[in-house]
Amino acid sequence: FKSEEVSQVRGVVLQKSTCEYWNKIWDFQAKPDDVLISSYPKAGTTWLQEIVDMIQNDGDIEKTRRAPTDIRIKYLSNEVMKINYLAGLDKANEMPSPRVLKTHLPVQLLPPSFWKENCKIIYVARNIKDNIVSFFHFQRMNKGLPDPGSWEEYFETFLEGKGLWGSWYDHVKGWWEAKDIYPILYLFYEDIKKHPRREIEKVMEFLGKNLDEKVLDKIVYYTSFNVMKNNPMSNYTLSSLMNQSVSPFMRKGVIGDWKNYFTVAQNERCNEDYREKMDDTTLSFSMEY
Ligand code: A3P
Repeated sequence: FKSEEVSQVRGVVLQKSTCEYWNKIWDFQAKPDDVLISSYPKAGTTWLQEIVDMIQNDGDIEKTRRAPTDIRIKYLSNEVMKINYLAGLDKANEMPSPRVLKTHLPVQLLPPSFWKENCKIIYVARNIKDNIVSFFHFQRMNKGLPDPGSWEEYFETFLEGKGLWGSWYDHVKGWWEAKDIYPILYLFYEDIKKHPRREIEKVMEFLGKNLDEKVLDKIVYYTSFNVMKNNPMSNYTLSSLMNQSVSPFMRKGVIGDWKNYFTVAQNERCNEDYREKMDDTTLSFSMEY
């Protein structure tokens, strides 16, 4: 990526603007009743935001849709708010409790107050192959992010951990380890896709909510891909940063789209890299796709 667009914090590649305001982000004050949604970008963050918001609003879709997803749930960074760098953080500080916040930070860069306050955190992870493809398209269509270059270049940058938000491996493994110490619900995109109701129930229980069957049915329906794709509050059509004609934000929403992009050689390279770098963890992704 172009050097004027990115920089690093403790070896993790982040947008330059995030790095410039790093001290403010690091000093962010979490509150005990905050809920944090955390993920590597393109793992299903927006999906989880919609699920959490619907659960918090007892399945009331009107309340959930009162504003676009990124305004309802504050981002602990500034990417979305290019014009005012501190808007994300400032707005988060002003938000009434109980707050739901969102971050893409790797575990070692999470502002320490979240650990101190023992906040509930929901992490969502997605298999590396689909995650690469989804991120590639996102960087193509998001004017606020560096140009990803060619698919071949992007693929290598990603595997080497030199992409935005750092190494996918460090991210998913780091949060996986943290879940043994802190109140973290660790979810997988693939599970939510295959068993939406079961996974939504998990989130509900984790948040200490008890919603009846009908409400759950409603949440499953309103958070399904096609409904979210047609919902301007969740598909980012209102964002001027995203050029949806290059690639829609709600792009495909499937498991296994990587097969349309990976060459045989890239698949072998990824499998080998994956075996090597996932050798030291109990975390595993179903590799049937
Ligand atoms: P694709 O690019 O593979 O389609 P994030 O919100 O973390 O940026 O992740 C975006 C990815 O999640 C996109 O993946 C998007 O289509 C997918 N997604 C969003 N909502 C979804 C839903 N309700 N069901 C399935 N996938 C969803």
